[in-house]
Amino acid sequence: MHELTPETITDAVLDQMATTSDPRLKEIMACAVKHLHEFAREVKLTPAEWIKGIAFMTAVGKICTPARQEFILLSDTLGLSALVNGLHDSTAMEEGTHTSLLGPFYREASPNLAAGSQIAKTVKPGTELVLYGRVTDVNGKPISNATVSIWQTGASGLYDIQESAASIDYRGVFTTDANGLYQLRSVRPIGYSIPMDGPVGEMVRAQKRHGMRPAHIHFLVGAPGYRELVTALYLRDDPHLQDDVVFGSSGDLAVDINPRDAESPIPNLPTIRFDMRLSRETAADKAGGRVGADPSAILKQPA
Ligand code: BEZ
Ligand code: FE
Repeated sequence: MHELTPETITDAVLDQMATTSDPRLKEIMACAVKHLHEFAREVKLTPAEWIKGIAFMTAVGKICTPARQEFILLSDTLGLSALVNGLHDSTAMEEGTHTSLLGPFYREASPNLAAGSQIAKTVKPGTELVLYGRVTDVNGKPISNATVSIWQTGASGLYDIQESAASIDYRGVFTTDANGLYQLRSVRPIGYSIPMDGPVGEMVRAQKRHGMRPAHIHFLVGAPGYRELVTALYLRDDPHLQDDVVFGSSGDLAVDINPRDAESPIPNLPTIRFDMRLSRETAADKAGGRVGADPSAILKQPA
């Protein structure tokens, strides 16, 4: 019988998996095994530590529901989602607006709203603002009829889906006009904590991290012939712009609130202007590859 040692086990596993017929699955699994083994060797992983890791991943899986995706949260807090988004951006045929995290609170079932609508059901005095901007191609040519899906937290710092699975608030889908313009009313977004009551929160606390995201508003923009854009705007004056717990905030996505904006399509309110540039779509983009997913859709995916 052959001798398996910490030095030879990796090659033995790779040899056995070499029969994998799907070439991409073969590549991904071989690389994952190499790095996992190297990780275990480097930290000299003990059996007790590995069981603790397995218990942690079991807890992450157990807490997932159609409205809560703890695995996305884990990927986000480890910077893996931001890394995968950055890799995705680098495959675009043109450099458009950068991607940011879709996060675990996107919902496919969002209401279609008329231009200028207020997306919040209740608006605290002094918090209302106008959110508008132009969707263009990378050369500034307006894209009309683009769908712009927007979602954010309410005054409590929670998304509607966290308050109740049935409530729909602080979200809506708009369509750009002939000049590529979208416009709506919303409320000033506030920074908030990611869900800290599960295993990922326990990990973040053990690492003495604050768990906060800077104030932001999410966007998912689609138009025929263009690569779907998943992004977010971030308020520049937020104290956590530089240390977002999920690494979503990045330079060119920071915006200011303008208290007096002569160009606003809706007068007499502070504004946030956020223009977005879309890259043309490639054949590979057409095959799919959304950056993130509605949590309920993940549970329906075949294994
Ligand atoms: C969010 O922005 O909605 C979000 C992203 C990652 C983790 C938690 C929340
Ligand atoms: Fe968010």
